[in-house]
Amino acid sequence: MSAEIKLCLIVARAQNGVIGKDNDLPWRLSDDLKHFKATTKGCPVIMGRKTWESLPRRPLPGRDNIVLSRDGQYAAPGARVFTSIDAAIETARALAAAAGKSEVFVTGGSAIYAAALPFADRLYITEVATTLDGDASFPAFDETDYIETRREAVAASEKNEFAFIIRTLDRRI
Ligand SMILES: NC(=O)c1ccc[n+]([C@@H]2O[C@H](COP(=O)([O-])OP(=O)(O)OC[C@H]3O[C@@H](n4cnc5c(N)ncnc54)[C@H](OP(=O)(O)O)[C@@H]3O)[C@@H](O)[C@H]2O)c1
Repeated sequence: MSAEIKLCLIVARAQNGVIGKDNDLPWRLSDDLKHFKATTKGCPVIMGRKTWESLPRRPLPGRDNIVLSRDGQYAAPGARVFTSIDAAIETARALAAAAGKSEVFVTGGSAIYAAALPFADRLYITEVATTLDGDASFPAFDETDYIETRREAVAASEKNEFAFIIRTLDRRI
């Protein structure tokens, strides 16, 4: 039953694929953070140890937080720690099923996106209208494996440093 729960990646990327710099987000996009919060609400979230450490407030409230580290002793108060992506996804799906949710989320960073992408059912990608320097990127993938099922444009404003488009891509069956 829990295999029916979709594995979703949620990311904001620049036009050159950059998602982070110095273990932080390279932009301030208030409406994208709202989108992230609303989309992942109540669902398990899986993230790498570095992304966990980058969170201004952790654990992310109202969600089961799962952290991946190769150090099985790593302490992440308020989160479950796993050393394998497979075990993390399996546990996330079980938690989602118990909570009556139909999605689990991989929330980065680039190492964890790369590990999870082959198994992803759905991608929530915020395409940020800029190109910038960074040290973390979203992995390249074949977009023809997916069909775009939603697209919403958001303008740059005082709250959003750059314009962006929120896209949902569902894997073709
Ligand atoms: N724009 C966005 O949407 C977005 C979203 C999330 C993050 N980010 C950005 O991405 C950057 C962080 O990404 P990152 O790639 O440097 O780090 P990361 O993926 O967050 O974390 C990497 C760590 O995860 C653990 N890990 C990686 N692969 C693993 C595996 N297969 N099994 C078990 N553990 C594994 C390792 O932890 P140990 O070293 O403890 O073994 C590794 O050092 C930051 O700049 C952050 O702001 C951006």
